[in-house]
Amino acid sequence: MVLDMIHFAPSILSADFTQLQKDIDDVQKGGADYLHFDVMDGMFVPAISFGMPVLKCVAGKTELFLDVHLMIVEPERYIEEFIKDGANLVTVHLETLKEPEKVIKQIHALGAKAGLAINPETPAERIRPYLSMIDMALVMCVHPGFGEQAYLSSSDEKIAQIASWIREEDLHVDLEVDGGIKMENVERIAALGANVIVAGSAVFKGDVEENTREFIGKIK
Ligand code: DX5
Ligand code: ZN
Repeated sequence: MVLDMIHFAPSILSADFTQLQKDIDDVQKGGADYLHFDVMDGMFVPAISFGMPVLKCVAGKTELFLDVHLMIVEPERYIEEFIKDGANLVTVHLETLKEPEKVIKQIHALGAKAGLAINPETPAERIRPYLSMIDMALVMCVHPGFGEQAYLSSSDEKIAQIASWIREEDLHVDLEVDGGIKMENVERIAALGANVIVAGSAVFKGDVEENTREFIGKIK
């Protein structure tokens, strides 16, 4: 049972890239233990974000656990490179995979943890068969592609459902939530059973260190 350990994962998608080192130092000082890294390819999602060169720089400068969320088609083509460049955990989208089990094994064989994500329109049941093979399930709480969107209330049921499967089957799987998490709803969402909490726009606005501390105060 891993769900008792809470991790906070600021998404650097909303960071100020002209002062990325400072933003990362601030979330670390505020108590974050993960750093969420949103890779977008303009194919699986409309936007393009960043990739290996940024990850490589960040990995060389921080001790934070690097949680890499691949919103890209054919992620199996790039997994090895992301792990080589410092990813501790690689999350791929179930919607992009023809052979999910094979890709999960590929991530593990390369020495990283494996996460599997589902979009808002993908039913929770689709991820269930893979829960015993992965280290983390990721429930997208917005349509992926952009920061600063509103939390979709339909995510509540999915989070609670997956958390109950993890509990009932005593699985060693973390449950991550991503998208629309704010100071006002984080407590309620964590109480549904999520234990890895991603937040982007709500962290990297104003006092980053203080925002991080306040988030963590609400969930730990
Ligand atoms: C959405 C990304 C999220 C995003 C979260 O496509 O996967 O990680 O950065 O941002 P907020 O917290 O602003 O919704
Ligand atoms: Zn993400």
